[in-house]
Amino acid sequence: MANPNFPFFDLTRQYQEIKGEVLERVNQIFEKQTFILGQEVTDFEQEIASYIGVKFALTCGSGTDALVLALKAMGVGAGDEVITSPFSFFASASSILLAGAKPVFADIDLESFNLDPSQIESKITSKTKAIMPVHLFGQTAEMEPLMALSRKTGIPIVEDFAQSIGAKYHNLQSGGMGLMGATSFYPTKNLGGAGEGGLVTTNDSQLADKVKLLRAHGMKVRYTHDILGWNSRMDALQVAVCRVKLRHLDRLVSRRQALARQYQEALGPLEKKNKIRLPKTLGGRFHVWNQFTVLVENRDQVRAALEQKGIPTDIFYPKTIPAQPVFKAMGGYNENEFPISQFAASRALALPIFPELRDQEQLSVIKALEEILA
Ligand SMILES: Cc1ncc(COP(=O)(O)O)c(C=O)c1O
Repeated sequence: MANPNFPFFDLTRQYQEIKGEVLERVNQIFEKQTFILGQEVTDFEQEIASYIGVKFALTCGSGTDALVLALKAMGVGAGDEVITSPFSFFASASSILLAGAKPVFADIDLESFNLDPSQIESKITSKTKAIMPVHLFGQTAEMEPLMALSRKTGIPIVEDFAQSIGAKYHNLQSGGMGLMGATSFYPTKNLGGAGEGGLVTTNDSQLADKVKLLRAHGMKVRYTHDILGWNSRMDALQVAVCRVKLRHLDRLVSRRQALARQYQEALGPLEKKNKIRLPKTLGGRFHVWNQFTVLVENRDQVRAALEQKGIPTDIFYPKTIPAQPVFKAMGGYNENEFPISQFAASRALALPIFPELRDQEQLSVIKALEEILA
């Protein structure tokens, strides 16, 4: 395996830029020795709630936990169904299973890699308790038809915005459009900590209170456990890192957007010749480009040829969720029911895009693709 000329994703470059701020904040936490649910956490929850434009933002242990907490707070459990995307990270569906319910998949639209609203209505049954769009790669799903369907059927929306913090749909923020939202602060996210962390969002005070109970063993009064919860808290050190990065988020997103534009312009001619399909910013969207995923025929060969030239790439996601061994073993799912997701999984190739990627490095990706796909 050839060594890449530069990394696919590199947090060390960012760290060099913000090291002073991070170490100062982290040091303050160490000086106070308050690590769990203290002032640092409460302050961050208020800051991020106002950034997203929701009334309540509750931190928790991970993005996966955030999804499970949101579903459980909504009362989703055994015997219920939740509709979601088959083309996402596994947690979009495993969270539904972990809440005790059954994931039901609806196919995606290839333009956005997100749930195709026209595929959803036929999946609704009397058991459907929520619709969970995933705003994949940094762009929101087509929310207006989903919200119209939600209004018509009374089925609430819970947004998986793990990859789309700051993204907008006609000026509505991802994570603020559904009844609830869940995101992740995993280090590779646009806003990532130095470990695990997640966030649940809502405008509903009762749901927010329920999340607070669930994330702390169902306990409001010390050692009185009202409901069955578990331990899912984001510690103050992770919060401190995220607080610093939140101040830089808009600037970092602008750089991601500039890199995406450069890829689109430079690779446009290859797309015109049908050699590659580029990701687009759809109407009314503010895309935050957590990933830049192209579709190419003979993806694995193209990837290997890029690797030979020292160009790092990644694949999100090589298999659809219903094609995962867990789902095959469970039975009742047919991976071939989702041809668009399958098509995407067989051709998706993610090109390096992170704020500190240098122009010269990006040019070398473009040049290599031009040579390989010519
Ligand atoms: C779309 C999506 N949903 C959920 C998650 C789960 O987040 P975490 O890894 O923090 O549990 C992730 C992140 O990996 C994700 O990309």
